[in-house]
Amino acid sequence: MTEIQALGELGAKIQIGSFKIADAAQADTAGMAFVLDQMAVRPAVQTLKAWALEQLAPVAGETAVDVGSGTGEDVVAFAELGLRAFGVEPSAGLRQEAVRRWPDCKAEFVDGLSDKLPFDDESVDVVRCERVLQHVEDPAGSVQEMARVLRPGGRIVLIDTDWQTAIVHPADPDVLQRMISSFLSHAANPFSGRQLRGQLVNAGLTISGENAATWLEPQSGARQGFVSMVHVRALQSGAITAAEAEAFVQGITDAADRGAFHLSLTMYAVSAVKAPVA
Ligand SMILES: C[S@@+](CC[C@H](N)C(=O)[O-])C[C@H]1O[C@@H](n2cnc3c(N)ncnc32)[C@H](O)[C@@H]1O
Repeated sequence: MTEIQALGELGAKIQIGSFKIADAAQADTAGMAFVLDQMAVRPAVQTLKAWALEQLAPVAGETAVDVGSGTGEDVVAFAELGLRAFGVEPSAGLRQEAVRRWPDCKAEFVDGLSDKLPFDDESVDVVRCERVLQHVEDPAGSVQEMARVLRPGGRIVLIDTDWQTAIVHPADPDVLQRMISSFLSHAANPFSGRQLRGQLVNAGLTISGENAATWLEPQSGARQGFVSMVHVRALQSGAITAAEAEAFVQGITDAADRGAFHLSLTMYAVSAVKAPVA
């Protein structure tokens, strides 16, 4: 099986919704880790990860928390800089995977949820939370919770996608609109990207920077991931007909074979600080 075929099979199994903690019991940890690894090397993700680290300006000896830490690389980055680093991750499988990947790293991977963090008030210097709030039922409450644990003078970065920014070509605009609307109505928090700044302000924090990066899908994306998830769900929910789904798939796969497929999405990142005590 080629890597693209493997990705296609996974695309059918592992969908955006699989990272919802409500789905964790049926989750395939190896599949989730594989998908996270594929995402981590995308330029938009790397750009925003690097920007987040700059904004957070971690200092050795500080305490850092990555909320929804997945396979743990961002937690390990803090630990390697000499911070006391915690990954909060509700999936036991992903916590085990993180420990398996970095057995000698001093980072700690702990169970917890974004809206109930296992830390005292004002005990953390640095918080990051990447591509998690889109899966969460109470994202605003989660950001309030992150603000609770931040020490005065502490820094935070939130990163997330806004799924309404999805652009696919070629596709009949009406069919595409119905597919994307159907997808948005089934996701926990698909507009997360645009909400980050307001959530930080509402939590009493002061915005210190913002950034955005465009995710450009490679041509292999015509046969996996977002587009397969979108058309399959739209078909299942009756938003498009079988003939429309077939024409959509034919159109994008023919285009990809000529190198003419386009899929893009915008990801946003916002940094903030908690006012130091006067
Ligand atoms: C798309 S992954 C992102 C992982 C990691 N932040 C990264 O950048 O690679 C989303 C992660 O959020 C976790 N997650 C889902 N719901 C959560 C919640 N309520 N609180 C904390 N983490 C959650 C999932 O288990 C998963 O590890």
